[in-house]
Amino acid sequence: MRLIGKAGKAAAIAAIAALALTACGRTDTGTTGGSTTGGEAFPKDSLIGVALPQKTSENWVLAETLFNDGLTAAGFKPDVQFANGGVSEQQNQISAMITKGAKVIIVGAIDGAQLGTQLQQAKESGATVIAYDRLLLNTANVDYYVAYDNFKVGELQGQALLEGMKAKKPEGPYNIELFAGSPDDANAKVFFDGAMSVLKPKMDDGTLKVLSGQTTFEQAVTQGWKAENAQRRMDTLLAGTYSTAPLDGVLSPNDTLARAIITSVKAAGKPIPVVTGQDSEVESVKSIMAGEQYSTINKDTSKLVEHAITMVKDLQAGKTPEINDDKSYNNTVKVVPAYLLEPVIVTQENVYTEYVNDPVLGPITKQ
Ligand code: BGC
Repeated sequence: MRLIGKAGKAAAIAAIAALALTACGRTDTGTTGGSTTGGEAFPKDSLIGVALPQKTSENWVLAETLFNDGLTAAGFKPDVQFANGGVSEQQNQISAMITKGAKVIIVGAIDGAQLGTQLQQAKESGATVIAYDRLLLNTANVDYYVAYDNFKVGELQGQALLEGMKAKKPEGPYNIELFAGSPDDANAKVFFDGAMSVLKPKMDDGTLKVLSGQTTFEQAVTQGWKAENAQRRMDTLLAGTYSTAPLDGVLSPNDTLARAIITSVKAAGKPIPVVTGQDSEVESVKSIMAGEQYSTINKDTSKLVEHAITMVKDLQAGKTPEINDDKSYNNTVKVVPAYLLEPVIVTQENVYTEYVNDPVLGPITKQ
């Protein structure tokens, strides 16, 4: 998997270069909160911890820079850590943030169910805990959740898969295979459920066929969101189930796995099926422009980080942060007050317009 920083990403996209763009915005509605509870809750130059997971996609790499820059600009002291070594490293990092006196701890969990002890300590120390992008599970000690609407991401992927196949071949039935993300990431099941809410009725009425029979989340998962795991599973499916039968589409939960699936198909010498994705990764945006990967999802990381920082500023000022969802994210112990942003589907049709205002990808132009 290729990971590049903001500058590299911008340079890579600039290299594809040149077309005119139309603005394309996103609206976030129905917000509540922002009320004052009186006085500063903690000093403006306080330490703010940001515990990020492994660098399993470009969005996490970008988040690191954005958190460092944004928190510093707001006057805070950022402590941003990646846990490339896994869950225990992330646990240690959160403990260290508490020891250093962090007033807010923002967590993008590797495994949202494995941080209970550290989150309890965070609460006891008086810190506020914000789940970032991925929900924190089985704990009362998470105050807010800020993320793109994960179920909607899955729905958009399911719809794109159907539309892409229909555009290539107006009449079904279609043969598809299903891939899901890593089972320790709370988002993975939500993405899958969102996609299945669209695909399952079509499987039931015979429009879609999953010839491998692997239709459950457990059968579809990709441990660690690792490209090599998706590629290996695709190799096996192609060599077995699809040695003669055509494969029309693949539900892929993100861009990294989409490219692994496409690599496998190419190596097998088969035509590329309709493959979905998510994250607007540089190589996938190029692939969409070249007509290989069918779709991605735009979840602008700068907007997500910006909102997380807005929450920190509100907390510092003694205000209740804005939320716009108080029912969707039950972590088994509580419904976590959430601020959800709207994901946007991107195909060849809108790839040149969607990123016009994107700080990393935009503006991209056609040659
Ligand atoms: C994020 C996705 C990302 C995946 C792998 C998920 O939790 O929401 O955007 O593709 O993790 O890094």
